[in-house]
Amino acid sequence: MNPSSTDSADRDQAADGAASGLANFVVAANRLPVDRVTLPDDTVAWRTSPGGLVTALIPVMRAQQGAWVGWHGAPDETLEPFVEDGLQLVPVPLSTQELAEYYEGMSNATLWPLYHDGVAFPEFHREWWDSYVDVNQRFTKQIADIAAEGATVWVQDYQLQLVPSLLRALRPDLRIGFFNHIPFPPVELFNQLPWRDQILQGLLGADIVGFQTPAGAANFRQAVRLRLRYESKAGWIGLPDGRRALAKAYPISIDAAGFQALAQQPDVQQRAAEIRAELGNPRWIFLGIDRLDYTKGIKQRLRAFGELVAEGELDSDEVVFLQVATPSRERVEEYRLLRDEIDRLVGRINGDLGKIGVQPLTYLHSSYPREEMAAMYTAADIMVVTPLRDGMNLVAKEFIACRSNNDGALILSEFAGAAQELKQSYLINPYDINGMKARMLEAVNDSPKERTRRMRSMRKQVFTYDIDRWASDFLTDLGR
Ligand code: G6P
Repeated sequence: MNPSSTDSADRDQAADGAASGLANFVVAANRLPVDRVTLPDDTVAWRTSPGGLVTALIPVMRAQQGAWVGWHGAPDETLEPFVEDGLQLVPVPLSTQELAEYYEGMSNATLWPLYHDGVAFPEFHREWWDSYVDVNQRFTKQIADIAAEGATVWVQDYQLQLVPSLLRALRPDLRIGFFNHIPFPPVELFNQLPWRDQILQGLLGADIVGFQTPAGAANFRQAVRLRLRYESKAGWIGLPDGRRALAKAYPISIDAAGFQALAQQPDVQQRAAEIRAELGNPRWIFLGIDRLDYTKGIKQRLRAFGELVAEGELDSDEVVFLQVATPSRERVEEYRLLRDEIDRLVGRINGDLGKIGVQPLTYLHSSYPREEMAAMYTAADIMVVTPLRDGMNLVAKEFIACRSNNDGALILSEFAGAAQELKQSYLINPYDINGMKARMLEAVNDSPKERTRRMRSMRKQVFTYDIDRWASDFLTDLGR
């Protein structure tokens, strides 16, 4: 770790300076997989963030001299590439203005709501788009600087959709993959985007454009067919320059074995028992864990639960709902509004239905380490995952990985990508509050044998198609 100015590095310099520093495998994502931490002696260090993506890619990166290109999380700061935990990390700087326009604006107030069915109103601003183009160009240059001849580059997610074609123009020798972690919308919605054709062309610079679900891949191919008139066959899109690009689903997953092992640690089991006790040892613990995001259907699920308690369908002496909402994108207006709405709703439900020392909802606006999450998954009985639209939803899979006793129930929105694989969950439509209430009751009233049957089948799925399988399926196709 040696932060200092790097703005002027150009490709030749990088090549001359450290031929051995060039990477045969490059991952590019909006964020680097590290967090900056301040140690007790006030020095600053980096810690690898424990996400599934980095866990899956570490072995590939180590084997192939990999590098990860991404923003390091603070504005107006330019850092030199550095090595952390054996990973070569290449920070991309963002100014305060780019943070507002490229990240909070175009990425999270235009593309994010538009790609999630327009569940919040997407805003379109030309300055945001200009900033998105600039930042995508900067990422492209950093990748081109670090990638060895013929290297494989894997670009991640909606913040970087222009990178594949920009990179191909600079470096036609590279193999380029792209994976979209969020939904790809139906063409009727996608068409609202003033820069729709640039986005499609941007993505088509990749050899493989990966999506979470077959429906996402089909939406993309349809947009390409209708807007650009490029035909596709068996997922392969024929391009005017003679190349072909494959648009296909690769549903992402988690490090299932790792999560299970974590949940089985004695300290985590102990903590799970503590959590149950702290919640008053109720008969049923319902659990929701989400980023505080309007796509997650948090209000809908709390309303459904509150009504069941108010109507006496669930006994307030027997049930508790633990809702964790991790702070997210707090400077974006829609997220601020949502926080206030949820604060109000939680206050109202507890105010109406609570008794002295007993509240049906425990609401935590905070983020927790993996150990605490594993303890919550273990402590819960009914996991409630009700997004209005979600690319995959890994929380649903993490809960399943932690249930080595094959008990517990998963209530899952049919609008989460995970519903394509977890067909034995209790599937719900989050817009249908009565339907959701009925499914919650069904999950509670089913026999333990029925819940076990469902859980067994879902565990088989999650342990077979884990994050390693996802990465190797994608990279094997890309290597062909
Ligand atoms: C989603 C996106 C990711 C993003 C994450 C956290 O999962 O698909 O690309 O990194 O949310 O959001 P943030 O804006 O904090 O990076």
